[in-house]
Amino acid sequence: MSAALIEVAGLSKAFAIRGGLFGAVRGAVQAVEDVSFRLDPGEVFGLAGESGSGKSTIARMILGLVKPTSGAILVEGRDFLAERDGRKRSDAVQMVFQNPGSSLNPRRSIGQSIAVPLEARRVARAEVRRRVAALLEQVQLPASFAERYPYELSGGQKQRAAIARALAVEPKLIVLDEPTSALDVSVQAKIIELLEELRARLGLTYIFISHDLSLMRSFASRVGVLYLGRLIETGPTQALFEAPAHPYTRSLIAAVPVVSEAEERMKPREPLIEGEIPNPADRPRGCAFHPRCAHAFAPCPVENPRPAPIGPGHSANCHLWGPRASDAPAYKNAEETPL
Ligand SMILES: Nc1ncnc2c1ncn2[C@@H]1O[C@H](COP(=O)(O)OP(=O)(O)OP(=O)(O)O)[C@@H](O)[C@H]1O
Ligand SMILES: [Mg+2]
Repeated sequence: MSAALIEVAGLSKAFAIRGGLFGAVRGAVQAVEDVSFRLDPGEVFGLAGESGSGKSTIARMILGLVKPTSGAILVEGRDFLAERDGRKRSDAVQMVFQNPGSSLNPRRSIGQSIAVPLEARRVARAEVRRRVAALLEQVQLPASFAERYPYELSGGQKQRAAIARALAVEPKLIVLDEPTSALDVSVQAKIIELLEELRARLGLTYIFISHDLSLMRSFASRVGVLYLGRLIETGPTQALFEAPAHPYTRSLIAAVPVVSEAEERMKPREPLIEGEIPNPADRPRGCAFHPRCAHAFAPCPVENPRPAPIGPGHSANCHLWGPRASDAPAYKNAEETPL
């Protein structure tokens, strides 16, 4: 096995819920629980899941913006959480946010914003100017944009500038948190094209967070699906989309709109998910998905399923695929059912 660029092991985060006059702790939101994955250099790992499933919390822990309750993050084999030097962390990992405005200061020109991480690293002035121009060129913006202000740029141009700023310190890993969801569809495609071109040329690795499964399918090389803070299925993109195993993944994919009848026929036959995603502060016992699952059987409300192997690099945390599978009611094993 080659060295992982990043390895996340048993990562968990519980946020305290405070309330009342004195801000007493009233409970906890288990935003992320026991999440593990490893990425080889050059991969695009897609993190999919509904709103509130813990995607941004995972991103923020990797960036060092949120301290995990437990778990480990290794970057090129080094303990990332023990790294006290924030600059060393940000040299290795950068983030691009949904709203490019958040990484561009409205009172600074684009050039000044891109220069901030370079100046912080004491790069000489003339060299900063040269690097800013080169970075703008890399994201296909004219060098003259260095003088412009964020309000003068379109959404797509701002996102390009934010990408240039993330690239300034030559990171190995970029976490892309919904990088295109605030943009028009036509602009989205161009940004994804740019990100793909940069990845190939600069040897970057991405964690790509999105709730848009069509986009994930075309961009990610591997996908992890989150439900209430837990990874419930992980696999190579093609395998996961063509043969999803977890009923939750199957329902998500069944709900993606398709354009042709051939595509429609290839979709998993799975009912739409009923009910709302539960409150993470009150997570169902056992498999957290069981109250909404059409296939739940005896172990589901009591036992949290461990990852069960589905195929090469593909696993699902679901009792239908684990050691208890033979206890599932007969109809769930019948030929006409997809599972
Ligand atoms: N600072 C915080 N304090 C308390 N709870 C938090 C905090 N940050 C996130 N949470 C909670 O943790 C859970 C996961 O949130 P997170 O933002 O990671 O989800 P997400 O998958 O990124 O959602 P979205 O798709 O809406 O961006 C949610 O229930 C959220 O309310
Ligand atoms: Mg988020």
